[in-house]
Amino acid sequence: MRIPIHPVAPALVQTAPAAADTATRLLKIRILRFDPRQPETLPHWQTYELLDAAGMTLFIALSEIREKLDPSLQFDFVCRAGICGSCAMLINGRPGLACRTLTKNLDLEFTLAPLPVFELIGDLSVDTGKWMRGMSERLQTWVHQQEEAVDLRRLEARMEPELAEKIYELDRCIECGCCVAACGTARMREDFVGAVGLNKIARFRLDPRDTRDDDDFYELIGDDDGVFGCMSLLGCHDVCPKQLPLSTQIAFLRRKMVAMAFK
Ligand code: FES
Repeated sequence: MRIPIHPVAPALVQTAPAAADTATRLLKIRILRFDPRQPETLPHWQTYELLDAAGMTLFIALSEIREKLDPSLQFDFVCRAGICGSCAMLINGRPGLACRTLTKNLDLEFTLAPLPVFELIGDLSVDTGKWMRGMSERLQTWVHQQEEAVDLRRLEARMEPELAEKIYELDRCIECGCCVAACGTARMREDFVGAVGLNKIARFRLDPRDTRDDDDFYELIGDDDGVFGCMSLLGCHDVCPKQLPLSTQIAFLRRKMVAMAFK
C-alpha cells in the first residue's frame, strides 16, 4: 500500500535520556509514521532526539529509540551487516541501508521514511519480499535446464573461474529494493521489473547451465515493463548499496533485446 499524502500532523518530539558518554551531538530524527492497520490515524512526522555516539549506525539509533522512547516504532533488520537487505529506507529522501549508514555522516537533523513502491507494513517497514517474489516468478529467475531425469551422481559441469566471477558479481544483489525505490519508471509502472529484475536476467543470461536463449529472454523483458521501460535516469545505479553495475547491464541487455526485435 502506498502512503497517501496528507497534511502533516503536528510534530511529536521525544527525547532520550542523556547517555553517560561524552557524545555532544544531539540528533533530531524525523520519522514518517503511519500504520495502515489504523487508517483513522494520519501519516505524520514524529521527531526523536537522541545523543550521537561513536560508531552509531541508523540501525543502532532506531533500536535505541524503540528501546528507550517508543516501542511502537516499526522498522526491519536481520543481519546488521549489509547482507540481508531488510533495513532499506529513505534517508533524507535517498534510498539506503540503515545498518550501513553512520549517524556521524548525517546532519544533526535528518528524515527517515519508508521505501516507496513497496507495500507498507508500518512506519519504516515495507514488504519487499512480496514484490521480489512477484518479479522473480514473472522473470523465472532460476536456472532452466532441459533434462529428462536428474542424475544425482553426475559431476557438476566445470565452469571457467572468469565466468563464475562474472556471474558472482551480479549475484551479489541483496534485493534490498533501493534500486526500485529510486527508479522513476517503477514509480509510474506498477509491473516494471526494475533494475533488480533486469540484473537477474543478465545473470542467468551469462550462466551456461541455463538453456534459455535471447528469444526466451525477449519474451520476458522485451516490453515497457521490462528493459524498454527504463528511462536511463541512473537512480538505481547511484543508490545500489552493493555498487552493482546496473546501468551497464541494462544498457547491454537493451542492445541485445533491440537486436532480437529486428531479427
Ligand atoms: S539489516 Fe541486513 S542489510 Fe541492514
